[in-house]
Amino acid sequence: MNQDELKQAVGQAAVDHIKPHLDEDSIVGVGTGSTANCFIDALAAVKHLFDGAVASSEASAERLKSHGIPVYDLNSVDGMDFYIDGADEINEHLEMIKGGGAALTREKIVAAVAKKFICVADESKMVGMMGTFPLPVEVIPMARSHVARELVKLGGDPVWREGVVTDNGGQILDVHNLKIQSPMQLESDINQITGVITNGLFAQRGADVLLLGTQDGVKTLK
Ligand code: 5RP
Repeated sequence: MNQDELKQAVGQAAVDHIKPHLDEDSIVGVGTGSTANCFIDALAAVKHLFDGAVASSEASAERLKSHGIPVYDLNSVDGMDFYIDGADEINEHLEMIKGGGAALTREKIVAAVAKKFICVADESKMVGMMGTFPLPVEVIPMARSHVARELVKLGGDPVWREGVVTDNGGQILDVHNLKIQSPMQLESDINQITGVITNGLFAQRGADVLLLGTQDGVKTLK
């Protein structure tokens, strides 16, 4: 299977995973990116089984609506059982780097509300130590240079993702060359920098389940 087929396989596996738990009141939390898109497309086949979705980006909201799936504002729902999203890197502890699609802040917020985070990823995303993929950090625009200087002090090489404005009006710094030995600590340290909206380390709230697409089928890691 090629990478696209692996993404489709994990998207379908996520639907199979949540389907027995869906009822007419269920709200499904939906992430962002090409793997999350595969999940959305598979989810459309069971849209009669649940109420609607909360999306972590405008792009995912549009895709959900195009399938006729109602999309709710997060403030209008009490909670949700599942949040399904991809990752840029994930380790054996199910800690992740996310934000390659610049949706990290809304992803972190929706994930915080969900009882269970299901990560869907092809096997290329599984790593020993995170940091080969540059860590995205969303910043208030006027703080960008200040945050960049502070990130250099933490050992990284931040690069402004020029031209990208997030759904929240933020800008993105991609931090290269970090050796992420203590993901939870680094997540806190970066979030302490004034002007940071959030960073793409999902360690304090990692995934609960990983559906990993491999050439031997979809593996479930918990
Ligand atoms: C978007 C994300 C995505 O989940 C991450 O970039 C993975 O994307 P893809 O499934 O396209 O590889 O965090 O902000």
